[in-house]
Amino acid sequence: DNEIMKWKFHTIGLFCLFIIRITSGQCPDDCRCPRPGQVDCSGSDILEIPTSIPPNIRSLIMLNTEVKELPDRILENMTALLILRIEKSELSILGSKALSNLISLRYLSLLNNRLQEIPDGLFKDLTKLETLILANNQISELHPLVFSTLMIGLSKLNLDIPNGLLNQLTSLQEIALHSNQISQVPADIFAYNTYLQKIFISNNKLSSLPQGFLMNLPELSKLTLHANAIKEITTGVFGPLPKLKELWLYDNQLEKLGANVFLNLTYTQLLIISRNQIQYISIDAFNGLDELLELSLHTNALSTLEEDVFHSLPKLQSISIHSNKINHLPIDLFRDMFNLATIQLAK
Ligand SMILES: *[C@@H]1O[C@H](CO)[C@@H](O)[C@H](O)[C@H]1NC(C)=O
Ligand SMILES: *[C@@H]1O[C@H](CO)[C@@H](O)[C@H](O)[C@H]1NC(C)=O
Repeated sequence: DNEIMKWKFHTIGLFCLFIIRITSGQCPDDCRCPRPGQVDCSGSDILEIPTSIPPNIRSLIMLNTEVKELPDRILENMTALLILRIEKSELSILGSKALSNLISLRYLSLLNNRLQEIPDGLFKDLTKLETLILANNQISELHPLVFSTLMIGLSKLNLDIPNGLLNQLTSLQEIALHSNQISQVPADIFAYNTYLQKIFISNNKLSSLPQGFLMNLPELSKLTLHANAIKEITTGVFGPLPKLKELWLYDNQLEKLGANVFLNLTYTQLLIISRNQIQYISIDAFNGLDELLELSLHTNALSTLEEDVFHSLPKLQSISIHSNKINHLPIDLFRDMFNLATIQLAK
């Protein structure tokens, strides 16, 4: 009724105002403005950020340009900007205040440019940012303060992992690199991050884990490696990880487990290797797992298991091996495993 009418009138009024304001801004030369609030300045004719972009836009897209520099405060009046994409361009110079005032920005992509460094404080005002894409640049180092502690909503960070990237971050306790396209990590990526407690690298494209990769991490308690494309685990990947209780490796492409690959994981209680393609498990594969309580091997390609394969798991309480191709198991497979309470052979 009256109240609703007033409200409708009010929103229609606002809406008209919005359209008028947007359309009253000119579309800059050499740009396209496909919808109100959207400006697209793409192509090699664009040599710099056009100065005549109306300030109240929602999205600014610049692809395949010759833009080399994003100067300080150039976007300072675009406080409503939600999406900024400057991709496949020549961007190499970023002012430390180039993104200041972009308080509404949700999505920032500087994919495929020539950036070598990211100035401290660049992201300072981006408290609403959800996605940050910096991949395909030449960034070799990021300073510890580059990611603002206010960027708490950032859920997607996509960047290549350069050598030495984390070397300065010696007090880092948690790093989230999950849900990216990472296909390789340098062996020494965490060499200086001895305080790391949590590492998230699940949902990437890793096909192997480099030797020496998880060596000096005495505080590590959470590590996610699931949903990658890991084909093999070799000895020399896992150093002593006294705080690591759980290791999740499901949804990878492991075909076999060789001898002693988990030898250092003497404190691990839960090992999840389900949903791989494991056909063969060495009789010494589980050596070292003295504290293991639960082992998940279901949904693999095992046709049998060797009689003594679990001999080094004195505390095991629960195991699942359903959804394999098993047609026969040795009679003494579980002999002397006095703590074993659950054996899941079928779904
Ligand atoms: C932003 O707005 C202020 C005040 O209108 C103006 O002085 C300034 O030049 C604008 N900045 C840019 C980069 O257009
Ligand atoms: C166990 O950790 C040591 C480092 O303390 C390392 O040299 C060794 O290769 C690791 N062993 C395995 C089997 O990964």
